[in-house]
Amino acid sequence: MCGIVGYVGHRPALDVVVGGLRRLEYRGYDSAGVALLDGQGGLSVERKAGPLANLEAKLAQVDAGRLTGTAGMGHTRWATHGAPTDRNAHPHRSTAGDVAVVHNGIIENHLPLRAELEAAGIELTSDTDTETAAHLVALAYAGADGGAATKGDLVASVRAVAGRLEGAFTLLVTHAAEPDMIVAARRSSPLVLGLGEGETFLASDVAAFIEFTRDAVELGQDQVVTITREGYTVTDFAGEPVGAAPFRVTWDLAAAEKGGHDYFMLKEIEEQPTAIADTLRGHFIDHKIVLDEQRLSDQELRDIDKVFVVACGTAYHSGLLAKYAIEHWTRLPVEVDLASEFRYRDPVLDRSTLVVAISQSGETADTLEALRHAKDQKARVLAICNTNGAQIPRESDAVLYTHAGPEIGVAATKTFTSQIAANYLVGLALAQARGTKYPDEVAREFRELEAMPAAVAATLQNLDAARALGRELAGSKAVLFLGRHVGYPVALEGALKLKELAYMHAEAFAAGELKHGPIALIEEGLPVIVVMPSPKGRAVLHAKLLSNIQEIQARGAHTVVIAEEGDETVRPFAEHLFEVPAVPTLLQPLVSTIPLQVIAAEIARARGFDVDKPRNLAKSVTVE
Ligand code: M6R
Repeated sequence: MCGIVGYVGHRPALDVVVGGLRRLEYRGYDSAGVALLDGQGGLSVERKAGPLANLEAKLAQVDAGRLTGTAGMGHTRWATHGAPTDRNAHPHRSTAGDVAVVHNGIIENHLPLRAELEAAGIELTSDTDTETAAHLVALAYAGADGGAATKGDLVASVRAVAGRLEGAFTLLVTHAAEPDMIVAARRSSPLVLGLGEGETFLASDVAAFIEFTRDAVELGQDQVVTITREGYTVTDFAGEPVGAAPFRVTWDLAAAEKGGHDYFMLKEIEEQPTAIADTLRGHFIDHKIVLDEQRLSDQELRDIDKVFVVACGTAYHSGLLAKYAIEHWTRLPVEVDLASEFRYRDPVLDRSTLVVAISQSGETADTLEALRHAKDQKARVLAICNTNGAQIPRESDAVLYTHAGPEIGVAATKTFTSQIAANYLVGLALAQARGTKYPDEVAREFRELEAMPAAVAATLQNLDAARALGRELAGSKAVLFLGRHVGYPVALEGALKLKELAYMHAEAFAAGELKHGPIALIEEGLPVIVVMPSPKGRAVLHAKLLSNIQEIQARGAHTVVIAEEGDETVRPFAEHLFEVPAVPTLLQPLVSTIPLQVIAAEIARARGFDVDKPRNLAKSVTVE
């Protein structure tokens, strides 16, 4: 969580940094701040609680002459230690004000460090873990901590301090006496470098600098990077130079803008056909499914005898769908775990286990730790990720990227449907390697997947009634969701969207469970959204769900049904019926999830909430 951006170049740093923060605000919006080096020994800091707009309003009041300079950094915060107030907003400074630090992550040993600083007579002015780092760097730079090797050397000072910190962190550090550089240290938190002509960028995400350059550099764990106008250097925490891999970002500024929509989320819902098509593109070559990166041999893939899927939130829901496809196509047993629970339940793993880690950001701490646990137990790890060069794919044995482009809305939409497509590609790759499907069967499944962008586009054409229903449901206290088979994870995802966007009580149940308890919740007027299976593809389940709808309707439920086009049997029991194109059973979630996304967004808008930035949330959850 938290977004950070650093810049050393030839443009007004304030504009670059604030512009970058605007694109990183999805990472946290509890407070924001900037630090600017004026090139003449001045270091100015401005910060403000609340969203970036509050900081911008404050900056507009500040004497512009103070905020000049072509080097600076900024921060948008998702609070962990200390309330979201002005005094806890980043950047944090040393007592003399000559060192400024922004931080993403948690410094786990901040309490002993704080005690050490206080014992040395330093007064800390915030409740954050971050402030300790600012004071420690200042002491190291001054040589006041007895470190002769760090005196007057900002890079050595940051290295020395980074070596003392425990936990996960990306730190950006400036010193008034070093106006032409920013030094960063990274452990288990995201950081990417951007390279321009006479300018260099650091950020949590390439979106912050995509306007200026698409040339980026991946940074590894436990590394210190120094940027200047001329370029960059990278070392490990011991000061040994290390290589860093450059890459070219495949999307551009237009992809990171709202494109005429009121909210990013609405644009991202519309982008789903393209996101799915881009995810599939290039993965069926010479009649074979191919992954993006594969450091596993065919034999190792053939030896897999069990699959675990680990993920959080929406990615977990996509993982539940992966189970249906992988078990059906490969006959391998698949377990799906919430990443946060996985390693604490001591799962049975060995070298013939495949763990599939699904993460949009590639930096979710729970998923990363689940992956590391699996690797410690010698399991093979395959990542499905939307972020090139993120930590989860870097630590995996094989990678399939979802090419959904940047997703700025905190609620996952296009990355969910892209993950479903990617999961199915993984299922087909396993079926192909194990020979549980003939090549022509794999080809047929792939062709069916390839037809899905058109089916999703058709679904998107027909959503006015879903929007109207969203407005109608805005006054409801709660909404229930029912589904079966692949419709059940869709129901779970529909409920999650509603919780996070509309702050409404929403629960999803497998419809077969209804009579085992949840039916007691049904009361007059309660909206219940039902995801119907296909009457052709899953006739038995369809009949059972039809009975469920009648049971809840008889008890007063307000029935909303998502059903396949032409499913007339359900019409008499649906007060609202949304038809989606008829597609193969496993692929139905790609269309049936779309009305649920739209209904949730519309309810949230009608209730007056910011659809892109739901309260208390951040896009990337980089702390456990
Ligand atoms: O980046 P990840 O896919 O690992 O994130 C996982 C969840 O935090 C994420 O899906 C979250 O549930 C979304 N806000 C849901 O819309």
